[in-house]
Amino acid sequence: MNFFSQQLSKKKTDLLLKRIGRVVAAEQFINGPEVGDLERKLSDFFGVEAVTCNSGTDALMIGLKALGIGPGDEVITTAFTYFATIEAIAAVGAKPVLVDIDPQTFNIDASQIEKKITKKTRAVLVVHLYGLACDVAEVARICKKHHLKLVEDCAQSYGAKSGGKLTGTFGDVGCFSFFPTKNLGAFGDGGAVTIRSKAVLARFKLLKNHGQPRKYVHQIIGGNSRLDTIQAAVLLEKIAWLEEDLAVRRARAQSWFKKYRNHPNVMALPEQEGHTYNVFTLLVHDRKAFVKELEREGIPSAIYYDVPVYKQPAYVGLFGKHAPLPHSEFAAKHVISLPIH
Ligand SMILES: Cc1ncc(COP(=O)(O)O)c(C=O)c1O
Repeated sequence: MNFFSQQLSKKKTDLLLKRIGRVVAAEQFINGPEVGDLERKLSDFFGVEAVTCNSGTDALMIGLKALGIGPGDEVITTAFTYFATIEAIAAVGAKPVLVDIDPQTFNIDASQIEKKITKKTRAVLVVHLYGLACDVAEVARICKKHHLKLVEDCAQSYGAKSGGKLTGTFGDVGCFSFFPTKNLGAFGDGGAVTIRSKAVLARFKLLKNHGQPRKYVHQIIGGNSRLDTIQAAVLLEKIAWLEEDLAVRRARAQSWFKKYRNHPNVMALPEQEGHTYNVFTLLVHDRKAFVKELEREGIPSAIYYDVPVYKQPAYVGLFGKHAPLPHSEFAAKHVISLPIH
C-alpha cells in the first residue's frame, strides 16, 4: 500500500484519459474552454465567484495581494499548518502573527485571536487543517468587529462544511489547492479562489495573468498563475465524483476508528462531525512505537507536521526565537497520519 495511492478504477481512468485526449486533439493547452467550464462549476458549487490559478500557494499569495495586503501589514494565522500558509504571507511582505491551536481540532484557537490584534493587523488567515473546518463563524465575527479581512486556507478542506456552510464561503478570499492528494486533486498542480468582492476578483484575475485585461495590454505587474487546460479537464471529470470520494474517506476513517478506538497508545481520534479526512491524523503517546507497529503490519504513515511553523529554518529571520506555543508543540510531537484512500 502506498500512502497516497488513490487506486482509480479502470472506468474512471478511461473517462479521464478521454477528457485529456479531447484537450490534446483541440491543442488549446492554455485557457482552453475547460478552464472556464471548471470556473463556472466551482462558482455554482460555492455560490461565490471562483477563479482558477496554478496552485494553492498562489491562491493564498495572489489572494492576499488582491486584497491589498503587503509590507507593514500583519496577518494573524495558525502556528500549526503547512509551510505555504506562512510563505504566502511572507511573500507579499506582510508579517505573520501566530496563534496557538485548539488541541481538539488542530485548528486556530479563535479565543486567542483578539489579543494578537494590533494597529497593523489587516487580516486573519485561517486554515481548515486536515479537512476539518475551524471555528470559522467565530473568526468571521471577530474580523467583522475589527474590520479585518478574512482569508481561508481551504487547501485541505474542499467540500468541508461548518454549520452547513462550505469552507471557502465565509471569508473575503477562500483558497483551494488541487494538488493530487487533496479532496479534489488534479494530475499535477492546480488551485482556485472564491472571492466575494468584484474589485478584488478583478484584481486577482489581472495578477494571475501578467496584469492583462486583454491580450498584450498589461495594466499592472502580475505573473503567470494560470491553470493548465489539461488539469482543468481532469478536475471537471473528478468534480462529479466528490461526494463519492468523500464517502470513501469517511468509510476508511470509520475502519480506523474501529481498529484504534481502544488502542493503549492512542490519545485521540479525529471523530469530529463534518470532517472530510483529507488527512486522517490521530494523536499517540509514543509515536516511535506506533510507527514500528504500523510497519510490522505494512501500513504506511506520515507526519503532518513535526514542527510548528516558527521552528522552520526558513522562518528564523521572520520569527526569531518564537515563544513556544504549547498546543502546537504538543501536536508536532504526537500527531501521526494514516492512509485514507
Ligand atoms: C494547508 C495548506 N496550505 C497551502 C498548501 C499549498 O498548496 P499547493 O501545494 O497547491 O501550492 C497546502 C498544500 O499542501 C496545504 O496543505
